[in-house]
Order: sequence, then structure tokens, then C-alpha cells
Amino acid sequence: MSSLWVVLLVTVSLSLHVSSDFVELHNTKRSNTGASNMNKVRLSPELQMIAQAHAERCENKTNPNLSTLSKTFKDVGENIHFTTIENYNMIKDQGVVNAWSKVFSYHYSSNTCIDVGYCEKFKQVVRAETEFIGCGQAMCGSNVFTVCNYAPRGNPNERPYLRGGICNNCTAGYSCDTDGLCFVPC
Ligand SMILES: *[C@@H]1O[C@H](CO)[C@@H](O)[C@H](O)[C@H]1NC(C)=O
Ligand SMILES: *[C@@H]1O[C@H](CO)[C@@H](O)[C@H](O)[C@H]1NC(C)=O
Ligand SMILES: *[C@@H]1O[C@H](CO)[C@@H](O)[C@H](O)[C@H]1NC(C)=O
Repeated sequence: MSSLWVVLLVTVSLSLHVSSDFVELHNTKRSNTGASNMNKVRLSPELQMIAQAHAERCENKTNPNLSTLSKTFKDVGENIHFTTIENYNMIKDQGVVNAWSKVFSYHYSSNTCIDVGYCEKFKQVVRAETEFIGCGQAMCGSNVFTVCNYAPRGNPNERPYLRGGICNNCTAGYSCDTDGLCFVPC
């Protein structure tokens, strides 16, 4: 029994230090949409700090102060996921991002979702103009709380991206990466 708990603790606390895998998990989702203007996201250490601080509060709700916490970004979005340790250990970070991005549920032409509760979460994961993300994770009793913050957030009511050939409509000056995402060349 006690060794089981040690394993669970180690698994979860390790994930606290690999927030960059959330960057990759998001870029994988973003490169599979058929969008023509999808930016690649990169890690923002500031957003990561904000997300981690909120995760450690262990309240299963969105950050009430999100609009005032970033010194860099005016417009920050958020996705949260609160689940038991047992479930987290089955789904891992990939399952958390999957839970936010039920692609099959979204109808581009009507800009609506079958699974209404997930529409905003999905649109935030694949919002074309978003370029920075930072995620945090904390163990809260017998639950794991994951928080990701996004900037810019974009308009949640609008379609999240333009359809068309890959990188056909990247922002001026951006290049097309091998994964079909638009990025600023160094
Ligand atoms: C967390 O909040 C969501 C949304 O309000 C709710 O559906 C879910 O049951 C909550 N989870 C727990 C473990 O409280
Ligand atoms: C949000 O900001 C208010 C006012 O500054 C503060 O009292 C409150 O503790 C903050 N809440 C969180 C969850 O950070
Ligand atoms: C690119 O996006 C703009 C709007 O941002 C749109 O007017 C234009 O038609 C798009 N071009 C292509 C090739 O999709």
C-alpha cells in the first residue's frame, strides 16, 4: 500500500517539471486541424508561473484574477482539468490535452460543438493566433489539478482558425515549420 503511494507521488511530481511536454502536446493538436494560419506555440515561463500558482491553490475552478496577473500579455486564456490520481495516471498529460480537444465535436461551418461544454476548451487549444502557453500541475489531496494558460487568448466566439492549405495564410514574416505550423524565424 505505502509503496503504491510512493509510485503515484513520484509520477505526479515528475510531471510538475515537464511542462514543456504540454507545448508539444498542443502543437501536435494544432498541426492536425487543416488550418492555414496556425501558429506554433512556445513556452512562456511567466504563463507557466501563473498556471502553477493557480494549480497549487487546488480549487477546481478557473483563475478569477487571470486578466490582471500577466505583465506581458493583456489577453490570457485558460483551460483546467481536475481529476483523481488514479485517472490521471491512466490518461497522463496527453489525456488531459485530449480531454480539452474533442476535435470530432466541433463543426467548423456552424462554429458550434456537439459537446457544448467543450467548445471553448477545444477552441483555445487550436486558436491560431495563440503563440505562448504555460502549464502547471499540482497534487490536491487525491486529485491532480492541471492548468494551462494561453496568450493571446483570441476571441472565444470566433472560429479558432482559417481553413486552407497548410501555412497558406501565416502572419506576414512568419515561416512554415515542418509540422505545418507558422513560426517566427530567429
Ligand atoms: C471539477 O469541476 C468540474 C466543473 O465544474 C466538475 O464537473 C467536476 O466534477 C469537478 N471535479 C471534482 C473532482 O470536484
Ligand atoms: C484575486 O485578487 C484578489 C484581489 O487582489 C485577492 O483578494 C484574491 O486573493 C485573489 N485570488 C486569487 C485566487 O488569487
Ligand atoms: C487570409 O486571411 C485573411 C483574413 O485574415 C483572408 O481575408 C484571406 O482570404 C486569407 N487568404 C487565404 C489565402 O486564405
